[in-house]
Parts: sequence; C-alpha cells; structure tokens
Amino acid sequence: MQQKVLKITGTAIKHYKNKRIKDARKQISSLLSSGWTDGYLYFQAGISAFNAGDVETSIRLYEKSISLTPKPDKQNSTLFMAAASAYSVQDDLEKAIRFFDTSIELDPGNANAINNRGLAYLKQGNNAPALDDLWKAQSLAPKDIGVLLNLGDLLVRDKKQDEALELFKRNLILHPENSEIHVKMGDILKKDSAEEAFKHYRKAVYLDPKNETNLRAYSRIFPNLPKVPNIDDMGNDLLLLLSSKAIQWNYLNRIVRQYIRSRPAFRKHLPALTYSVQTNQDLQLDLGEVIKALSDKVLLMALKNMRIVDPEIEKMLELFRRLTLAAIVSGAKLEKPLCDLLRTFLVPLAQYSFFTEFLLQENEFESRAVGSLIEYFEAGAKGTPDEITLRYLILSCYRQCHKHAFAKELTGKQIFKSQPEMAELIRIQVTEPNIELASHEKIKQITTINDAISLNVREQYEENPYPRWQNLPPTGISSYAMDLVSKLPILKGKQPSFPKTPNVLIAGCGTGRQPISSAKAYPEANILAIDLSLASISYAMRKAKEINVKNIEFGQADIMELGALDRRFHIIECAGVLHHMNDPEAGWKVLCNLLEDDGYMNIGLYSELGRQDVVACREFIQKNDFGDKIDEIRNCRKMLMALEKQDPAKRIINHNDFYTLSACRDLIFHVQEHRFTVQRIMSALDHLGLEFLGFNLDAEMYVSKYEDRFPDDTTRTNLDNWAIFEEENPGVFATMYKFWVRKKRDLLA
Ligand SMILES: C[S@@+](CC[C@H](N)C(=O)[O-])C[C@H]1O[C@@H](n2cnc3c(N)ncnc32)[C@H](O)[C@@H]1O
Repeated sequence: MQQKVLKITGTAIKHYKNKRIKDARKQISSLLSSGWTDGYLYFQAGISAFNAGDVETSIRLYEKSISLTPKPDKQNSTLFMAAASAYSVQDDLEKAIRFFDTSIELDPGNANAINNRGLAYLKQGNNAPALDDLWKAQSLAPKDIGVLLNLGDLLVRDKKQDEALELFKRNLILHPENSEIHVKMGDILKKDSAEEAFKHYRKAVYLDPKNETNLRAYSRIFPNLPKVPNIDDMGNDLLLLLSSKAIQWNYLNRIVRQYIRSRPAFRKHLPALTYSVQTNQDLQLDLGEVIKALSDKVLLMALKNMRIVDPEIEKMLELFRRLTLAAIVSGAKLEKPLCDLLRTFLVPLAQYSFFTEFLLQENEFESRAVGSLIEYFEAGAKGTPDEITLRYLILSCYRQCHKHAFAKELTGKQIFKSQPEMAELIRIQVTEPNIELASHEKIKQITTINDAISLNVREQYEENPYPRWQNLPPTGISSYAMDLVSKLPILKGKQPSFPKTPNVLIAGCGTGRQPISSAKAYPEANILAIDLSLASISYAMRKAKEINVKNIEFGQADIMELGALDRRFHIIECAGVLHHMNDPEAGWKVLCNLLEDDGYMNIGLYSELGRQDVVACREFIQKNDFGDKIDEIRNCRKMLMALEKQDPAKRIINHNDFYTLSACRDLIFHVQEHRFTVQRIMSALDHLGLEFLGFNLDAEMYVSKYEDRFPDDTTRTNLDNWAIFEEENPGVFATMYKFWVRKKRDLLA
C-alpha cells in the first residue's frame, strides 16, 4: 500500500507543478479514499495544491492531515498555519484566525503565523489586533522583510506615518540591500518633504535598477520637486527612467526639460532662442552649432519616448530639421561621418515628428524642398544607400509617409530592412497606420450617427484621433468590485456583487487607452467599447492586438442613439466624452438607461474652474479667428508662445497637450466643449436619480488636503464641500471631474 500511495501522491504533486489541476485532483481523490493514515503525506500534497492555486483541495488535504494528528505538538504548528492561510485566501477569516490561534499556541515563536494572523485581522477590518500581531511578529523576526513592510504599511494606513518612518529608519541597517524600504520611506516623505523622498526613491533605483515599481515611484516625485539638486548628475537616472515602458512620460517633463536646458552647449543659445520664440524671428545658427546643442543621449531618448514640453527646445528642433533638410537637398556630397551623425539625430526626430503629428513650424522653403523629395521618391529614388536613407529620414520628419505609394515599396528594400532602426521607423510610420486604415471596414456599426454636433465631433477625431498613446503603465489584476471598495470609502464593507463576468460599456473609447487598461486590470470583464470615430477605434484595435487583450468588442456608435441597444451593463465608463455632446445631460440619461439597477458608472467632465487657461485660449483663438487646420494651429501656437508672460492665454504653453497636434486640437480647438461646475453636476445627479459615490483624484495630495479641510466628511461625498474645496484649490479638477455614481437606492425600491 505504501508504494501505491507514494506513487499517487508523487503523480499528483507532479501534475500540480505542471498546473494540470484536473489530473492532479483525480490523484488526490484516490489518495483521500486510500485509507492511508499518515497525516504528513496529506500535508505535503496540500502544500503543492495550494501552491498551484487549488486552494479548495488544499483545505481538504490539510483538514485530513489535522484529523490524523490527534495530539498536535510544536512541529505541527506549520500544518495549522497552512490550513489557516488557505482559509484566509478563501476569505473564511473566522476559521483562518481559529487555525492561526492553534498554530501560535503550539509554537508561540512562529513569527510567520503571527504575521499572517495579523493580516487576517486586517482583512476583517480589525486593525488593533492586527497591529499587535505585526509588532509581535516583527520583534520575533526582525530580519523578515515581509513582516517589516506589512507593519509599516499598517502604521501608514492608521495614519501613524512618523512611527512607520522611525520603524523603517531603525531597520535600514538590517536590510542594507533592500530597495522596497526606501520606496516606502519615499512614499511617506513625499507629501511634506519631496527632496527627502527623492533621495530614498533614487537609492531604491540604484539598489534595484530593473525594478519597474521602483522606477515608477521614482518618476512620480519629479513633478513635486521645485528643482532637482545636482541636475548634472541626473543623466544616467534619466536614461534609465526613459528606457522603462512602465513610466508615464508626463512625470518626467520638468526634469528632462531642466536637464536639457542646463547642458552647456544648449544653455549657450538660450537667450537667443527665447528671443526668437518671443519675436517670431528666425534664429541664425549653423548646423554644427545646432548639433552640438542637441548632442545629448537624454534628449535623443526623450524624443523617442516622450513629448518635449518646452518652446525653446522645440525651436532648436525646428532649426535642426530645417538646416538638415537644406543640407540634404542641396546636392552637396555629405561625407560618411556626417551622414552617420545626422542619422543618429534624424531617427529619433522622425519618431518625435510622427508622434507630435508634424506640429513643428514649416516655412516655404521647407514645403518646396519636401515637395521635391516626394518627387524624388516617386521617380524611383536613385542614389547611394546613405543618400536614400537620409532623404527618407528627413522626409519622414515632415510628412506621413504611409500616405505615399512609394513608402510601401521602400519597406521591402534591403537597405531599410537591414538597418534595425529604419525597420522600426517604417513599422511605426508606414506599416501600423496602414493596418489601421485597412481595419476601418471591419468595424461593426452599432448605431447610425445623425446628430449634427456628433457628426462634427466625429470629423475632428477622424482627422486627429486622440489620445495617441504608446505605452500603458502596468496595472495589477483586480476586479471591479474590489477596486470600487478600495477607491470609494462610502462602499467600505459593502462590496458590490457583480456576476463573474460583468458587462462593461466604455462609451467614447477614443484610441483605446481606457478600455485596454480596464480589460487588462479586470480580465473577467466583458467589455463593449464604442466611439464615433473609425480612426480612433482602428488605433484602439491595433493596440489591443499588440497588447494581446481579448475581452473587448469594439463598435462605432453615437451615445445619443444607444438607447436602442438591447443590452444592459454592470459598469459604464464615460470619461472626457459627454462634454463634447450637443446636450451632455441628454447623453448621460441614455447611459443611465443602459445601466443595470445595481450597476456603477464612472463619469469624467470638464471643469469650468479647472480649465481657465483653456477658456482664455479659446477666447484668443476666437478673437484672432483661427481655424483648426494644421497651418492655422501652427500659427496660433506661434502667437501664443510669443504672448507676454502675464497674458492668461500664455499659460497654455505649460500643458503637455499643447505639444502634439491632435492633443492641441482637443485642448483648445475643440468643435464642441461644455464645462461643468459642481453645482451643475449636483443638479444633473438629482435630475437623473443618481447617487454620488466619490471622486477619483489624479493627485493623491488633494485627498489628504480635503480630509484635513473637511474631517467630518469621512466618505468624501459631500458635494457642497467639494464646491468650496474647488474654489480654494482651482487646480484640483484641472484634468476633469472624474467620479463614480450609481442609481439612487430609494428610487429603485
Ligand atoms: C477626448 S476623447 C476621450 C477618449 C477616451 N475616453 C479616453 O479617455 O482616452 C473623446 C472621445 O469621445 C468620442 N465621442 C464624442 N462624442 C461622442 C458620442 N456622441 N458618441 C460616442 N463617442 C463620442 C470622440 O469620438 C472621442 O474619441
């Protein structure tokens, strides 16, 4: 019998290791009915089931093992702890705590069991015994980093930041190589002492430079730092940060800008650049000087990965592009070293130009020269590989090459295929846009579009889909129900109960960043994403494929017409869309009718107070009668950049969106824009029968600021308070009012 039972157990463990849960379970059934009476074997099998994620079976095995251990002793402490942990995973917290109690009685020095019981108490919302346990576990196992971090987290959660900081400081010596402690210390310090936080995040990145969490935490401190100390030392840090796909580039704007402007070769030209921006006069420099000023690895990397939010740097890029074009089309022979040098600049500039949608200023000479380059390629592009490559590169700094038949032919040419950076450029600028164009006809039309405003809005986003995003910051995997509870204090202890695969509508999905983030974060969700614009949806579909997200169905529809849809949704997200409709409240009503009675809705609306810079700009545009074609947008930007410092419209030059075409159009040239106030939101909620559940704020600091200002509003749902808070902090909703609502419960009864 022993042989047989050992064989069954061995096979089950093997199956678990290979994640063949069904096969493993079959073996476990035979084991459980074998009559074998040695508890240890069941315990071993239980551990492998648990590690493979088969918690249910692990519990059966642990229970069996416990039943075969009538007189447990110190050695069995881990068995009871394992059973308790499995119950805790299943959220059966009472049983979990009971088993932890036994485990700790059997071995009072079992720091793991004490730590885990603390976490179970925490899950129950019982902070006091949780804290007791974590302190005990930490004193028993001071070197255990997990216990230390749990304790620190709980202290922070209990608003005992100083105690947490002291704890981490005391323990740094025991964990000199650990980067997580530094990140936690940075997190605590960032509110009141950004410079101290910066030092800890930086240390964390030095200790573990590949850790994306550390890099992300580090990147987030830069907007809070008035000035980075020792900017000259920041080159390597910036290269590291810019090479990570986990980072949102907008956090790095200021530091990259500060870094580039402080390079001596660039700084030398700053006064002349500023004068040129302010007077719209050309800057006279030769190509050699410009190359020196732009010769920095950080800048080249930044061009590929982010938008440069700086008029003077933009001006220098413009100059480089113009002088290089002149050199290339002049017909003069360019020596090999110069060709190679130009290429190192032109590849990133071509990518930058593509992602900013060719927003840089272009003069008549350039337009003519670009015309002659197009003729050259149409005529078959004769020349050396260097000549052809440089001509193609400079052309792709000016025009969308995929629109020309020759670009497709060039993609197959050996000289392009054999140069990896050229192949990448062709993929981004030719192959991908063509994939998008080809997918237009595959998009399902869910409703017609009849409303005149919707048609105008559609036209804008067909020409300039927005936002044109590259990378998504990584999201953890979660569920809507869990996330809602963690974001909204009003739901504490009242987790919504959605079906296993909740139906989700993303109304106005744009280019897909929103539905793809949701699809990744909530893999169980069944998402319908709709938009007016085929160009936007095509972009979204291409990105969904690239990121391998499968739980989204895309379709073209006008929210106004969605009433006819024979489907209901547990979650509806509509961010940055309703304010572009003819009658936002009417659109909102359509969405309310699509929401399940126990569903939740996330809305994003422009704020009147938050968009004062935009309001000033829109007035400027109207006064100067600018249209929204690219030349007019370029001219308007030029004038805005040249305004006096104190002009309210000038503030727009600090917005990221000012630096790419589609975003700039979306920001200040939109064909339809409503702006809301808290009062207007309140009356809409009242009218629609909706209950306000809370804002999601971009900047965490506003949460604590609000809590300090209105300590009695523990759920942060008092909209009268929020109206006062916004008056006092006009930047709080600068991006948008983003909030959750649901149908009023009393109206449903
Ligand atoms: C500023 S974008 C926001 C996209 C997306 N929600 C996001 O946050 O990334 C606005 C989008 O709303 C879409 N939109 C505007 N009015 C709409 C309507 N009536 N029905 C459907 N989509 C609409 C536009 O086509 C555009 O793609």
